[in-house]
Amino acid sequence: MVVSNLAVRTVAELGQQPEEYRKAVQKLVVSHAVNELYGAQVFDEPAIALAPTPYAKWLTCRVAMEEYHHHLRFKGLADEMGVPAEAMNPDVKKPLTIFHFELKTWPEFCVIKAVADLAEVLQVEDLLHCTFHPLRNLARITMPEEKFHAKFGRDFCTELCQSEGGRAEIQDALNRYFPITPGFFGASHSKNNEMFRKWGIKQRTNDEMRADFQARATDLVENVLGLKLPAL
Ligand SMILES: [Fe+2]
Ligand SMILES: [Fe+2]
Repeated sequence: MVVSNLAVRTVAELGQQPEEYRKAVQKLVVSHAVNELYGAQVFDEPAIALAPTPYAKWLTCRVAMEEYHHHLRFKGLADEMGVPAEAMNPDVKKPLTIFHFELKTWPEFCVIKAVADLAEVLQVEDLLHCTFHPLRNLARITMPEEKFHAKFGRDFCTELCQSEGGRAEIQDALNRYFPITPGFFGASHSKNNEMFRKWGIKQRTNDEMRADFQARATDLVENVLGLKLPAL
């Protein structure tokens, strides 16, 4: 059953929804709050030091600033919903495996932005019509910035791919990073995903999202960068 005509316009209205709906919304908001913060800490902020030119540093600062801001937006909503701060501590709520990669080089960061932020664009797209409007509105505000992050990655990868050495570095980073990204979309028969779709909080199954991601990543790596997408 899909509750498609549901519209929960405010946090106060959320309080009147069934427990399953409230829990489902909380799970998603907390997940975004935790992962936006963790990603900013392990990837975006350290990447400012790796960026090779003032121009690249400037844009990387912007990316880091926006990722911290995403955390603040989702955390602000969670606070309004009465979620305890402890629930958003990355030591308590484990961050996603997509962040379990030890960032050491600039080409690796460019690949992470091109690929992981493409995956994030898909996740945010899935919330653009969420029945919980405060979350839908956050997704709509966040979307242009996530698109900028993915484009930042694609543009710097494209630039690096113009030299033989750069192409080899990007291919190598892809070979090591891309295989961990499909896990970002969750298990094939996830109970959480079933619950999100039942309440119109999310639209697509994890497998549909993963297949779409695979298609867009293939286009990026093979048609735009002229490299090889590693087999999973
Ligand atoms: Fe973000
Ligand atoms: Fe991002």
